[in-house]
Amino acid sequence: MKKALITGINGQTGSYMAEYLLDKGYEVWGTVKRNSVVENQTARLPDEVLNKCTTSDGQSTLEYADLLDMPSLIRVIQRSQPDEIYHFAAQSHVRISFDQPSYTTQTIVLGTLNLLEAVRLIKPDTKIVHAASSECFGNSIDDDGFQRETTAMLPVSPYGCSKVYAYNICRNYRRAYNMFISNSISFNHESARRGSNFVTAKICKIATQIKLGRKNEIKLGNLSAKRDWNHAKDICNAMYMMLQHDRPDDFVVASGETKSVEELCEFVFNKLGLNFKDYLKIDKRYYRAEELHELKGDATKIKETLGWEPDFAFEDIIDDLLDHWHNELTGNNDA
Ligand code: GDD
Repeated sequence: MKKALITGINGQTGSYMAEYLLDKGYEVWGTVKRNSVVENQTARLPDEVLNKCTTSDGQSTLEYADLLDMPSLIRVIQRSQPDEIYHFAAQSHVRISFDQPSYTTQTIVLGTLNLLEAVRLIKPDTKIVHAASSECFGNSIDDDGFQRETTAMLPVSPYGCSKVYAYNICRNYRRAYNMFISNSISFNHESARRGSNFVTAKICKIATQIKLGRKNEIKLGNLSAKRDWNHAKDICNAMYMMLQHDRPDDFVVASGETKSVEELCEFVFNKLGLNFKDYLKIDKRYYRAEELHELKGDATKIKETLGWEPDFAFEDIIDDLLDHWHNELTGNNDA
């Protein structure tokens, strides 16, 4: 039985990764961040997943750990002896990275370095895939309008700057110590489990509340920003494929399509039979100190090298989010 360790197993993508790997027969380990509301620590892990997070002799495979607490990382790697590590844990909100630049930098920069160093010292043959980000590119874009593995990285947020370091330290450890470390340069990825302070989930949640008569306005920031939206489950599949490849490498994972926040908003409200302009208020609070204007990824490399193809189109992603928020807000959780 293969063993995988997921940092940030209770995050949006980490939780789907756990399900994906359990379905493949893995023993799945996860790092959990301590929260004073204990239920919140595993809130994204359905009961059937939680029940399967055990060793063959019934010990829990969920461990309290923090990327900045080296002893906790050492303990979890020693206990789990993982064949593969899926590294998601981070402060992942771009606008909040301007409010908490130091914390964001510590978790992503030092956190990733701590993880790599712990693996190098304890079990250097572990294969690692790091959730790098399209935010690394900032406003750098190739002449044909796409970002790809060779596009210059010119980040425009503390989060993006930190992810560039993490991306590079992964490449450095790969070459310096001959470790199997890949970077998934993931473009935006969404789902029913997306936190509702990210724009897709925020719009789907509030549009549903408006439809149900519980709210009468939505406050948003930069409507002209364009993003390349994907489903978190397609990112899991891509990251799994990266670790089954015969060598470590870096891959862009993206749909190749871009839409503005305004187009997203219009699409969601139209689906609910509403006109977003009747409810929209622009609030400067949601702007970033420096904006990233447009992301559109070219996933040719992963498609040609690993045969990856996304299962979810933009419309499917929005359906997943709207179904979730409708069920959540109407208490129809059996649906
Ligand atoms: N969150 C948020 N809230 N974003 C808004 C709002 C708002 O009220 N109004 C407009 N936006 C715009 C943001 O300015 C941004 O251009 C876009 O909506 C998407 O914002 P987010 O959903 O917060 O995601 P992100 O693109 O900043 O970052 C996400 O994608 C990265 C990959 O490109 C995160 O998941 C990162 O962790 C990830 O690395």
